[in-house]
Amino acid sequence: MKFSLLTFTAIVPLVSAHFKLMYPTSRGFDEDTMTNFPCGGMSQSSGRTKLPLSGGSFPVALEMHHAQTAVEVLLALGNDPGDNFNIVLSPTFKVSGLGEFCLPHVEINQELIGRNLTDGMNATIQVQTNGDPSGGLYACSDIQFSSDVTYQTPSACTNNTNLVATAFPKDSAARNANESTSEGQAQSGSSSSSTSKGAAVPMQTAAWGVIGAALVGGIAAL
Ligand SMILES: *[C@@H]1O[C@H](CO)[C@@H](O)[C@H](O)[C@H]1NC(C)=O
Ligand SMILES: *[C@@H]1O[C@H](CO)[C@@H](O)[C@H](O)[C@H]1NC(C)=O
Ligand SMILES: *[C@@H]1O[C@H](CO)[C@@H](O)[C@H](O)[C@H]1NC(C)=O
Ligand SMILES: *[C@@H]1O[C@H](CO)[C@@H](O)[C@H](O)[C@H]1NC(C)=O
Repeated sequence: MKFSLLTFTAIVPLVSAHFKLMYPTSRGFDEDTMTNFPCGGMSQSSGRTKLPLSGGSFPVALEMHHAQTAVEVLLALGNDPGDNFNIVLSPTFKVSGLGEFCLPHVEINQELIGRNLTDGMNATIQVQTNGDPSGGLYACSDIQFSSDVTYQTPSACTNNTNLVATAFPKDSAARNANESTSEGQAQSGSSSSSTSKGAAVPMQTAAWGVIGAALVGGIAAL
C-alpha cells in the first residue's frame, strides 16, 4: 500500500487521485465518477463491513491526495439508503498534507442516530470532501453493526508524517464539505447557505471531540 502510493505519486500529479476510503471497506474507487453524489456513483456492495455494536466508535481511514482537503463523515441508516445521508458523524474539518489519515474513533450513539443501535442494523457511511475545483468528492462504505465483532484498529489506521487535521470554525464546520473550499469557505456559485441541508446543523456539537478523544480507546485486538 505504502509502496504503491509512493510509486504512484512519483509519476502522476497528486491531484488526480483525490482521496480514497481505506476503512471501512469502500464500495469502490473510480476517479472519474467520484464527483457524483452520492457515493461517487458506486452501487451498493454485496458484503458489509461489520462494526462493533458496543463501544461507541469505529475507525475511518483515508488516503489523502490533495495538499489540503475539507472532510466530512456522514451516515445513512437502512439497507439501501439512496442519498439520505442525514446523520453527521464528523462535521467538516480540515486536513492538510498527503497520505494516510485516520480517525480512530468516529463516535456513534443513540443520540446521534436518533434511535438505539441494534444488532444487525445496516447503514452506509459516506465520506465527502470538497471537489476539485468545485462540487464534492464522494466515497461510501456499506456497514453492519454487529455484536460479533469488537473494536479493532485496522492496519490502514495511521497518519502520515506532517499530515495535520484541524477543526474549522463553527460556521465552516457546519457547511457540508461538498459545498466548502479546502479553506472552509463557501464555494463560489454555491447557492446554498451554510445553514442549509439540515443535517449538518444539529450536529455541530457532536463533533470535533471525536478527533481529540481518540487514541485512548484504541485497543488493537489484532
Ligand atoms: C433504547 O433502549 C433503552 C433500553 O435499552 C430504552 O429504554 C429506550 O426506550 C430505547 N430507545 C428507543 C428510541 O427505542
Ligand atoms: C443487512 O444487510 C444484509 C445484506 O447486506 C441482509 O442480509 C440483512 O438482512 C440486512 N439486515 C437487516 C436488519 O435488514
Ligand atoms: C452535498 O452533500 C449533502 C450531504 O451529503 C447532500 O445532501 C447534498 O445534496 C450535496 N450537494 C450536492 C450539490 O450534491
Ligand atoms: C490522526 O490525526 C488526527 C488529528 O490530528 C487525530 O485525531 C487522530 O487520532 C490521528 N490518528 C491516529 C491513527 O493517530
